[in-house]
Amino acid sequence: MMQKVESLMKLASIRTLAFGRAQRTISRYICATNEGTSGTLSDLGSRKKTFLQKQVDQQARKQHKDATMNEACRRNPLTTVTHKQLVLNSDHLIMPTITGTLDDLNDPHGQSGIVLNYVWLRDHCRCDSCYHHTTSQRLFETNAIDLDIRPNNAALTFDPDVNDHVLHITWPDGHQSQFTYSWLTDSKNIFAGKYPKSKSVQTLWDANTIKEIDIKAVEYEKYMDKSNDESLKVLLENVLRYGYGLVHGCQTSIDDTAKTAERLCIIQNSLFGHMWSFTNDLEHSDTAYTNLALGAHNDTCYFLKGAGIQVFHLLEHTGAGGETLLVDGFKALETLRRNHKWAYDFLVETSIVHEYVEPGIDIKSLDSIINVHPITKEPIALRFNTYDRASLNTIDQEDMPKFYEANKLLANEIQNPQNEFWLKLKPGTVLFVDNWRLLHGRSAFTGRRCVCGCYLARDDWTSKARELGLVSSFHF
Ligand SMILES: [Fe+2]
Ligand SMILES: [Zn+2]
Repeated sequence: MMQKVESLMKLASIRTLAFGRAQRTISRYICATNEGTSGTLSDLGSRKKTFLQKQVDQQARKQHKDATMNEACRRNPLTTVTHKQLVLNSDHLIMPTITGTLDDLNDPHGQSGIVLNYVWLRDHCRCDSCYHHTTSQRLFETNAIDLDIRPNNAALTFDPDVNDHVLHITWPDGHQSQFTYSWLTDSKNIFAGKYPKSKSVQTLWDANTIKEIDIKAVEYEKYMDKSNDESLKVLLENVLRYGYGLVHGCQTSIDDTAKTAERLCIIQNSLFGHMWSFTNDLEHSDTAYTNLALGAHNDTCYFLKGAGIQVFHLLEHTGAGGETLLVDGFKALETLRRNHKWAYDFLVETSIVHEYVEPGIDIKSLDSIINVHPITKEPIALRFNTYDRASLNTIDQEDMPKFYEANKLLANEIQNPQNEFWLKLKPGTVLFVDNWRLLHGRSAFTGRRCVCGCYLARDDWTSKARELGLVSSFHF
């Protein structure tokens, strides 16, 4: 077989390859063999030789191939090796597209096929010695990969056992990697040129639309039934789509509220404890612990990553007032972006400090008011809290007019009565609010009012949503 390679190399066929947008035509030596990798692997498997002999054979063959490849590379560093339809270039191979299933997968470099970088391929080997399939963790040190690595052999063959094409690669040290075509073209594993947006699961609302939608509470008993996730799914779907959900029929105790929260995920401990409850007694240095009205705000803006969900349960209220306010922050952001793009951009790009200070505690965060997804640039979290905003020591005095105007334009949207949804919580109904998206507040009240609740970390509640198949792996 190797003689065939050498003779073919001597022929030095010249081919052209569409490469890059400029469609440069590059002449290269082509090393072609009639031996696909599958042939190499099965030959090896069928030979009745001892394990040692096989190793020796493999080593000899590897050395011969290395020499051939190296000779070809010395002659022309842009040597292209093809095995059937695969094209092996200096630092990547190009895998042909097999079916029309690559809807998401564009061709960012204008090449015909799917570009696969060699280091990426070696780094993503999913064999049992490189990857632990129970822990879903990589088992080897990426830094051990030679950054100039290139396969000794590669082929794409159809494997009826998995009913898929499989890319077989043999690396210079003899290590073999196999990837199914489906795995390689799944945008969960590879950047597909565009990133799926999570917006599709969200319905933005104002006061009128949310009243029409009239989200129904799920029943406590069904929700708590661990043998059936349907009610939990409904609650989570409401949180994902509208930013909040309700559970009705909970006992009015802190313990039962905790159980309701824990049906979704573990509770996030914080300076307020595992579960918190507040009455108007100023136990903490926070306006929440008074009977004053609270304008729409996001909680825990002083954390580097704010609490994901806030759980509220009104345990008792003997007086008047104390209605709960909800505002869809992403709706406000959409309007701000449409009408005042500069203000939206300024609040995305400008980091400011929020803080929580009381004796023994000094928590600070530095981040922008509008957090955007690093790839899609769509809003991912809003951090709007006038109460907790610290001294503005990150903005030049010259830029203050810009900050205050942008902040005012955003506040105008948040405080627009058309966006304010007021609801009267009742004992027994537990409210789950996506604190990264919705703002909450309350009207002033009289009498004794006691609310308990807790925080759920974004990581933990979205984990449950992924586990239940409600969001894709692209939802963060
Ligand atoms: Fe709050
Ligand atoms: Zn491996």
